[in-house]
This record gives sequence, C-alpha cells and structure tokens, in this order.
Amino acid sequence: MKRLDDFRMRMGRDELVPIMIGGMGVDISSSDLALEAARLGGVGHISDAMIKTVTDRRYKTKYVKAKQALYQYNVASADKSAVKFNLGHLAEATKLHVEGTMSRKTGSGMVFINCMEKLTMNAPKETLSVRMNSALDAGIDGITLAAGLHLGSFALIEQNPRFRDAKLGIIVSSLRALQLFLKKNSRLNRLPDYVVVEGPLAGGHLGFGMDWAQYDLATIVAEILQHLRQESLDIPVIAAGGIFTGSDAVRFMDMGASGVQVATRFTVTRECGLPDPVKQEYFKATEDDIEVNQISPTGYPMRMIKGSPGIGDGIRPNCEAYGYLLDANGQCAYITAYNREVAAHPEARRVSVMDKTCLCTHMRNFDIWTCGQLTWRLKDTSLRNADGTFQLLSAAHVFEDYQFSIDNQVRLPLPEVAST
Ligand SMILES: Cc1cc2nc3c(=O)[nH]c(=O)nc-3n(C[C@H](O)[C@H](O)[C@H](O)COP(=O)(O)O)c2cc1C
Repeated sequence: MKRLDDFRMRMGRDELVPIMIGGMGVDISSSDLALEAARLGGVGHISDAMIKTVTDRRYKTKYVKAKQALYQYNVASADKSAVKFNLGHLAEATKLHVEGTMSRKTGSGMVFINCMEKLTMNAPKETLSVRMNSALDAGIDGITLAAGLHLGSFALIEQNPRFRDAKLGIIVSSLRALQLFLKKNSRLNRLPDYVVVEGPLAGGHLGFGMDWAQYDLATIVAEILQHLRQESLDIPVIAAGGIFTGSDAVRFMDMGASGVQVATRFTVTRECGLPDPVKQEYFKATEDDIEVNQISPTGYPMRMIKGSPGIGDGIRPNCEAYGYLLDANGQCAYITAYNREVAAHPEARRVSVMDKTCLCTHMRNFDIWTCGQLTWRLKDTSLRNADGTFQLLSAAHVFEDYQFSIDNQVRLPLPEVAST
C-alpha cells in the first residue's frame, strides 16, 4: 500500500517531501509552523497579511500605533481615502518578518510567503510591489500568489534580481484562472514554479461563489493536469482543500499531482499562531458549526465556525490603524454596511452589522475563526485531557502522519504526561 512518502515533489532542481503547509493569515501559519515543515523536508508558509500587526506582536515594533496616531484626526470620518500605508514601514516590517524566519531555518525544505492580492491597502499596486520585492530581498525561498488573479503581479517583481531564482507560484481554483494568468505573463518568459489548485473545501476565502458545493477538487485537478500536458507545460500541480489523511494525498499523487497543500489539520498544533482557547473551538466544532458566508468585505465567500465572535459585531471601522482591505479609492464594504446601520439606528450606542465584518480588526484579534470544511474531523486526531479539553498536537506529528500513514488512518499522539 502506497504512502505519501513514496513520492517526492520536484521544483526545478529541488526535491521535497510533497507536503506544503498552506499560508494562513494573520500569523496563523506562524514562523514556527512554517519552519517545522522546512525542517522535515517539505514547504511551510508564513503570510504577509497585516504584517505590521504581526511584527508589532512578534518583534516589538510600533507600526500600528504610528499609523493610528498619524491618522487619528480621521477616525470619525466615513471617508478613508487619505489613510495610506507608509511604504517604508511596510518594507521594514516585511523584512523583519522574513529575515526573522529565514535566519532560523533548518532542514532541506523551504519557507514561502503567502501574498493575497485582495489586501489592496488603499494603493494596490504600490503596496503589493513593496510586499513582494521586500520579501525577495529579505531572502524568502518563494512567494505564493493568493486571493486574486494576479494578472500584473509578476511584472511588479520582474526587475528584482531574484525574479528568476526564487520559487514563484499561484493559487487557482479553475483552469480558466490559470489560463488567464499564463496568458497575461507570457511576455515575461517566466512560468510559475508551481500551481496550487485549491478546491471548495479549503479554509479562508474561496475562489468559488456560494455554489461552491457543486465543485470538486479532483475534477479541477484533472482538468488542469490535462491542459498542462496538452500544452507541454511542465509545472508542478499541488492539490489543496479537504485533504485530511495521507491516503487522501496519495490519491492526488496517483492522478499526477506533484504535492498537496494542507492547512486545517495544523490549526490545532502547538506551533500554529491561533490562541490555545481558539484551537479548542476548532477541535470541538461539529459539521453543523461550519458555514460558508459572505461577510468578508473582499467579496469572496469565506468559510468559518458559526460561533466566531466577529460575526454580527458592529465595531467602528478601524482603518486608521489597519486598513488592509481599503480598495484603490479608500472604500471597504464593511464601512458602507456599518454606516448604513449607524444611520438606521442613530440612538444605538453600538450597532450590529450582520452582512459584513470588519475583517482586519477581527482577524487581528482571532475573532473570525476561518477553517476548512473538515474541521469537524479534528476531534478524531487527538486525545482528550481529563478536563475535557483536547491535547494539542505537534506540527511534526501531523506532518509525519500525512507523510507515513496508510489506509486512511490518522495516528493519535502519545498521551501527554501531566507536569507536576
Ligand atoms: C485558518 C485558515 C486560514 C487560511 N488563510 C489563508 C490565507 O490567508 N491565504 C490563503 O491563500 N489561504 C488561506 N487558507 C487556505 C489554506 O492555505 C489551504 O490552501 C487550504 O485550507 C487547504 O485545505 P485544508 O485546510 O482542508 O487542508 C487558510 C486556511 C485555514 C484553515
């Protein structure tokens, strides 16, 4: 019987264990988690979502405070167009996070950074350019382009000395999206080094509409593999979304995939950046507790646990401090929804906003519990403590379970000895 370890993922001259831990913003896929994947010979991701918040927390910088102070005068205004990111600070923060991670890297694997195009930051091109170029300059092994079609993203780093040697890949959810990307970038004579094909069961934002349940990862992977073969394009395909066991992964490898990207199973590891009480919510979730909704201001459907405290909350938009979802005109769908509720309830001290959420504030505070569809199976991957809580896992345990398990099995951890 085959196991995932019977395969290797080739990317150029590099040979890797075919397991990629997906990017999970805001610092859910922490440096520690990514570094474990690299140590074990696979690929880990850090994320540059809300990078200034991440460095303030991890490296004691004061970027958020500085931005908040600069734009304090604008807090009560509905017009956020003046609230711009300091590009110098953005570059510094990216450098800190990437260098801080890469300086600790061991093993034969790699660490990539997840860059979401939907973080438009009130100046989409300028900020994305700084984010990607700074990450390359700081020595990241690769960049995964996410949450967007990224038709212009390669051009933004074309002049970077590492444009041809760093690993560059993109996440797509359809053959059409991949075709558009390849067509748009053909003049650069630079193919992506890998394509992550993300199906409808993934966590985070989905590349599908609310009819996501009608799609199926295996069908999309097969279509893309066939297209690449037809066009004689040698680009490794990495399948993602709902791959819960090593055997699930082997099925994609047998189809011709080069690797898998997985995330949900790592949300309950010690290395994951979620607070421990939130990890317990992931363990406890039942199938009925998980929904796909449209409250993300990005316009993409997002999967999350229904009990997320950020759902329905009506906090005042906090763009002066954050503002990562402001579009090129300084607009965000949450601001519109919030203003509508305030106008409708002028007497209320606090409004409730059901149709959109202030994603920056709530992701920063770990109050939107985004998750994969199979989160409800996490309870079967660990042991229960005497107090009813679940034992957290090590990232190495989960990684090696994917790598070595057979027969759809999930290996349980050894019981933890209570410290006295
Ligand atoms: C908690 C969580 C947060 C995520 N955040 C992001 C993100 O910021 N950017 C992104 O491209 N994908 C994100 N994803 C998607 C994962 O990187 C990955 O592709 C997908 O979840 C794999 O499916 P699985 O979770 O069923 O293993 C997230 C997934 C989870 C579970």
